[in-house]
Amino acid sequence: MQNNDLYHAAKAAQEKSFSPYSNFRVGAALLTKAGKLYTGCNIENSSFSLTICAERTALFKAISAGETEFSKILIVSDADDFISPCGACRQVLSDLAGDIDVILTDSRGEMQHKKMSELLPFAFGRSYLIKNPNV
Ligand code: THU
Repeated sequence: MQNNDLYHAAKAAQEKSFSPYSNFRVGAALLTKAGKLYTGCNIENSSFSLTICAERTALFKAISAGETEFSKILIVSDADDFISPCGACRQVLSDLAGDIDVILTDSRGEMQHKKMSELLPFAFGRSYLIKNPNV
């Protein structure tokens, strides 16, 4: 699947954004290693801290569908600057999706390519916790 396809899928997901408090609409398209696409948008809550970002929506949809191996995520917003995932999403993506490619876009549709490990170096992860080598 081409990055352009991911871009259009993320844009379509962005349309579903529920963001009446910030009016900041975000969409994400997450590709599995097998080539399956999951999308997400940000969903805000009147209890603000319960808001979920587009990236985690996409990832949680994928994981809840049984996916475990991921290749990349592309993120869109309406901001002029390249959108950059928040710290919480960096931790969750790094922990659950690994060192995937992260494609940041700006309002003109330009793309900037990063690795998850660039966005969150020296990340905390499951290796600190897991003693059972099968997990
Ligand atoms: N947001 C995302 O969904 N992803 C990001 O990468 C940055 C921020 C959302 C959370 C909130 O609904 C709104 O954007 C403003 O922070």
